[in-house]
Amino acid sequence: MTRKPLPLLLLAVTVFALGTLLPCHAKCTAIGVGKAASADGTVIVSHTDDAGNDASDLRLVRVPSSNWPRGSLRPVYRTRDGFPRIVSPSRGKGYLPRNGQREYEPLGYIEQANHTYAYWDQDYGVMNEYQLSIAESTCGARTLARPLGEDGGKALLDIAELSKIAMERCKTARQAVQVMGDLGSEHGFYAEAVFADSGEALILADREELWVFHILPTPDGASAIWAAQRVPDDQAVVIANDFIIQEMDLEDRENFMHSANMVSIAVDEGWFDDSGNETFNFFKTFGYEPKEFDPVLGLYSGRRMWRFNSLVNSEYNKSADPYIGYTPSQCEHYPFSLKPDRNISVETLFKVLGDHYEGTEFDLTVGLAAGPFGNPNRFEGHTKGTKALKGGFERPISIYRGTYSFIAQASASHPDYLGVTWYGQDQPAGTVWAPIYAGQESVPESFLWPKQSEFSLDSAWWAFNFVNNWIQLGYSKMVGDVNDARAELQAEAMELHALVVKAVAWIPIKSVAVAVLTRMSNKFIDKLTKSWWQVAFKLVAKYSNGLVTTGEDPGERTGPGYPNWWLKAVGYTNWPPADPGKISSYIH
Ligand SMILES: *[C@@H]1O[C@H](CO)[C@@H](O)[C@H](O)[C@H]1NC(C)=O
Ligand SMILES: *[C@@H]1O[C@H](CO)[C@@H](O)[C@H](O)[C@H]1NC(C)=O
Ligand SMILES: *[C@@H]1O[C@H](CO)[C@@H](O)[C@H](O)[C@H]1NC(C)=O
Ligand SMILES: *[C@@H]1O[C@H](CO)[C@@H](O)[C@H](O)[C@H]1NC(C)=O
Repeated sequence: MTRKPLPLLLLAVTVFALGTLLPCHAKCTAIGVGKAASADGTVIVSHTDDAGNDASDLRLVRVPSSNWPRGSLRPVYRTRDGFPRIVSPSRGKGYLPRNGQREYEPLGYIEQANHTYAYWDQDYGVMNEYQLSIAESTCGARTLARPLGEDGGKALLDIAELSKIAMERCKTARQAVQVMGDLGSEHGFYAEAVFADSGEALILADREELWVFHILPTPDGASAIWAAQRVPDDQAVVIANDFIIQEMDLEDRENFMHSANMVSIAVDEGWFDDSGNETFNFFKTFGYEPKEFDPVLGLYSGRRMWRFNSLVNSEYNKSADPYIGYTPSQCEHYPFSLKPDRNISVETLFKVLGDHYEGTEFDLTVGLAAGPFGNPNRFEGHTKGTKALKGGFERPISIYRGTYSFIAQASASHPDYLGVTWYGQDQPAGTVWAPIYAGQESVPESFLWPKQSEFSLDSAWWAFNFVNNWIQLGYSKMVGDVNDARAELQAEAMELHALVVKAVAWIPIKSVAVAVLTRMSNKFIDKLTKSWWQVAFKLVAKYSNGLVTTGEDPGERTGPGYPNWWLKAVGYTNWPPADPGKISSYIH
């Protein structure tokens, strides 16, 4: 029987379908490397924060440690995009109300801990004073919940607040999984309002262990379903906006954790049949699978997973099929984790974070869409409205809307305050990562500029963002200059880190050590900001007006024009037109 669809229903369905393709808040990539898979024995998590349509608060904020009186409550806020992220007297002076700001109204409260640890905070908690480190990636899920007070929502906690609570309360990844999971179960968990983004994943590192954590709402929106899997020490993982935990050994408590309701809800909802002896598969059970196969969604995740895995493992590179999207029904083609050919260094990860599929068949620096100068950036937004076309571009790890990225290294071989987070401003492909320490007490003002709506020469973010935008006037012409400058400053950053570790090792008093490493890091950040504006100003002079100007003497200015392949593609060689009458209109 066929029925005429109601126009309104059709509209709603269309809007919903498009909604699933839109970039939502923080579609990020997260990477983890176990201690026996890293070049220096550290446990690594890495995150690119690829905030979506809304503006982001750009500050890297130090939340200090605190003692709390008995009976204190911890306010829980509704995550807000843009600046200010939070206004609260409860999170140290970085988040105090300033310039007429009003304290945010909490969504609710949970019991406060007696003592909370200091940590670096951005959209999510980054690294705390015990080196607990967290990378995040929003995932599709089968359930969706709304926060308290919104459309009848019943959930109190989102992943931003959970990650911050983990920073405040936990020293180890395993403990953080339990704390976040229990709080999500008790108070309810919510993520975004579309199924393609209604779940969340984290990768957590401590001095010894690496864990993957997944969480989604219960079908009633009032609690949470969660699971976690320990990553083998000699392996690496990547999450690209879909759950990666697949088959779970529910007896193996050493390597798997999960909420008590996980299997029973799956059975009740008919998502998992426990009558046979099928192994429980988390992604198959709880991952989001659109009713109609959606190649965009599957490849949005799958392509980045394929890329990371093939960059670190040559066997995988040889055998994997990049055309198979990563969806619950096709997940067996993607491993949970992989052993890299070579132990992964921070430098390797810098390259991975800046990747646009260079050298592969998906290389974004080539082809007509890259324009005459190989621009790898592909803007989104065309999926909206009545003119929306079916199609898509590759989604690279380094994307134009990336606001920050980091590589956090938790180390068992030195004191916790020397745990290092390599923190980079704006899109990873054009950044330099500065060392920020777990025990560090502050960053300079240049790392605290808050706004994307106001330009400032005092801001490190704006320096990197400016260059990442200016370079698009002639990417292939400028990228060499930019990468040379990056390499030089990154090498300086690495030398500084080696120096800090050496210098601080001699200092027996922790407070003195912390003061020294804070000063050394801050001095470098100030220099980095100044240096990057110098890079920007040089590029402006050298590449204005489509020319390359290196000096004032004759011959020190060239006009490279456009490449021949592009001129042919845009009809340059069809001029003048065959009908000479048409030429007159060109002659003035
Ligand atoms: C990687 O590191 C582990 C542990 O540090 C070491 O045993 C192993 O030999 C290293 N592998 C390679 C390929 O260097
Ligand atoms: C705080 O400390 C008290 C007394 O030591 C203890 O009973 C209580 O459980 C602690 N609360 C939390 C949230 O850790
Ligand atoms: C359980 O698995 C075994 C081996 O794969 C199979 O032979 C058996 O039929 C399965 N039992 C059920 C009840 O599905
Ligand atoms: C992957 O394999 C292709 C084809 O064999 C090769 O050209 C490419 O360099 C390899 N990539 C990596 C990252 O090893």
